[in-house]
Amino acid sequence: TFVVTEACISCKYTDCVDVCPVDAFREGPNFLVIDPNECIDCAVCVPECPVAAIYAEEDVPADQRDFTPLNAELARQWKPITRTKPALPDADAWSKVQDKREELKR
Ligand code: SF4
Ligand code: F3S
Repeated sequence: TFVVTEACISCKYTDCVDVCPVDAFREGPNFLVIDPNECIDCAVCVPECPVAAIYAEEDVPADQRDFTPLNAELARQWKPITRTKPALPDADAWSKVQDKREELKR
């Protein structure tokens, strides 16, 4: 499966969702996740993300590995998102912030 990591938090550009052939993305207040039960590993979402937040599970950086179970957990709670919409208002500022896990809203 593919995994959305920290870079997405408080950005949520949503370019990724339009291209997913199986509508695997789930939306929270300021983050998206991929439902591991839906993702077919096509990889087309990866280059769409302006902040490179999406990785194949086996390529998730060591300091981001907690996002793999987090995607699975939040995918059970959040609703599907299938169309791109405007990014969050301060997305461009947040895109430059490295350490922003604490900003995640559930
Ligand atoms: Fe969807 Fe493919 Fe990305 Fe999985 S890898 S979330 S199937 S676009
Ligand atoms: Fe997030 Fe990147 Fe998609 S910022 S919403 S993973 S395009």
